Amino acid sequence: MRLVLPRCTVRDWRRSDADSLARQADNPKIWRNVRDLFPHPYRRRDAVQFIARALAQRPRMQFAIVVGGRAVGGIGLIPGTDISRLTAEIGFWLGEEFWGRGIMTAAVRALTRFAFFNRGLRRIQANVIEWNRASMRVLAKAGYAREARLQLAVTKQGRTVDDIIYAAVRRKRPAVTPRPTSMSAVKRKRARRKS
Ligand SMILES: CC(C)(COP(=O)(O)OP(=O)(O)OC[C@H]1O[C@@H](n2cnc3c(N)ncnc32)[C@H](O)[C@@H]1OP(=O)(O)O)[C@@H](O)C(=O)NCCC(=O)NCCS
Repeated sequence: MRLVLPRCTVRDWRRSDADSLARQADNPKIWRNVRDLFPHPYRRRDAVQFIARALAQRPRMQFAIVVGGRAVGGIGLIPGTDISRLTAEIGFWLGEEFWGRGIMTAAVRALTRFAFFNRGLRRIQANVIEWNRASMRVLAKAGYAREARLQLAVTKQGRTVDDIIYAAVRRKRPAVTPRPTSMSAVKRKRARRKS
């Protein structure tokens, strides 16, 4: 996947992004706004493992944000399951030196469109820790609606606070139902040839 935007490119991770990823992600100002699953400190081996997992996903749902040829942030979708299978949660972060240039607003907007039109999703949701005003602003600018405040739903850095839910939906159903995503295009081609 590759989305070329005026301020950045959103593309698949590459193994060669590991150094830049570790350098940009190793920041307490990023960590305090994301899940505890996000390592802190963020070492090179964390970056290598993350990239390997992202590349093994089918279909891929985690992407690098590239500025000036360097991977300086991440954006991704965690798809729901069962009856929530057309819903996904969006997550994102950007290296601090790049904040305030409109990069994430553009990336969220583009990935949301991609999720609706290329992945067949109908709802993208974001969970924002109550103190994260910048993220709320990004989501509002990218067309997300503030839907709910889940009281005391998250615990971060020893504080239990509210979780603010933002969402974007695609009301119109796609004309063609997306194909099942468990088989890659290559495998599908091979299976067709064999049958
Ligand atoms: C949130 C984050 C992704 C924003 O990326 P970005 O590229 O700087 O975002 P943009 O430049 O597109 O927009 C940021 C907006 O937030 C506003 N903003 C920044 N800090 C703010 C604050 N403390 N209070 C209110 N608004 C704030 C900016 O002014 C801007 O709005 P504007 O265009 O109306 O002026 C980045 O700060 C980040 O990575 N933070 C840490 C990780 C994180 O929070 N991830 C999201 C988890 S839900």
